[in-house]
Amino acid sequence: QPRTADALTPDRPAGPVVLAHRGASGYAPENTLAAVDAAKELGIDWVENDVQRTKDGVLVVVHDTDLKRTTDVEEVFPDRASWAVKDFTAAEIAKLDAGSWFGERFAEARVPTLSQFLHRLERNRQKLLLEIKSPATYPGIERDILRALRKEGWLDPSHVRNRLVIQSFGADSIKEVHALRPDVTTGFLGTPEVADLSSYAAFTDQINPSYKTIGADYVAAVQRLKGPHGKRLRVNTWTVDTAADAAKVHAYGVDGIITNYPDVVRDATR
Ligand code: G3P
Ligand code: CA
Repeated sequence: QPRTADALTPDRPAGPVVLAHRGASGYAPENTLAAVDAAKELGIDWVENDVQRTKDGVLVVVHDTDLKRTTDVEEVFPDRASWAVKDFTAAEIAKLDAGSWFGERFAEARVPTLSQFLHRLERNRQKLLLEIKSPATYPGIERDILRALRKEGWLDPSHVRNRLVIQSFGADSIKEVHALRPDVTTGFLGTPEVADLSSYAAFTDQINPSYKTIGADYVAAVQRLKGPHGKRLRVNTWTVDTAADAAKVHAYGVDGIITNYPDVVRDATR
């Protein structure tokens, strides 16, 4: 098997890897290019995002399955019966303001396509923790995502080795990614029972749990196991936004911390 997991999340005596949740979403509207740039400005390499699919099959970066919270969809399309991402075309979604809800100075922000998001990461030389959001809503999205990544060069060996992890709350979705592209590093979002962890280790390199669900014993139980690439499983925990919580999970021994405030977490764990 290709050896990818270690290069992506090496042991870091200096502190855990810091990952910007939906971009640096404490400082810019989540899952927008502005949030990617905000992470870059803070010196953060890793950006987490959420990927879904439009009515006409375009992959877009947005967290909620409904567009209401983070866009002006209700004003732009007042007569629609649904504001679900899956019920809008990419051209319709491109019209939406995805920034004003966060601050007027972000009124130009749009819901990016995955392709636009990848281009911005490439320009910034950043890395991607890609979440397949609500996979049951989008049958076949795993193949679509892998196709888009390949087209943009993100399945080239150097990217796979150094710059890409795919995660989901859907175990079947991650199993599918692993089956289709065994070289890609994968993560399962959640906190499986310790007794079940070894079955997850067959298809995932990372167990990525809420920080509220873990302690040092759980982290150690995960890290004792080896994943599909023969390396020990990693733990990236979310969503840690205070210095006190960051220090706590750092003491648990986590490998990475996913946060809306990467600077706060970095300062608390160095
Ligand atoms: O990456 C972890 C985190 O993003 C999972 O939860 O709801 O923010 O996508 P959510
Ligand atoms: Ca997410």
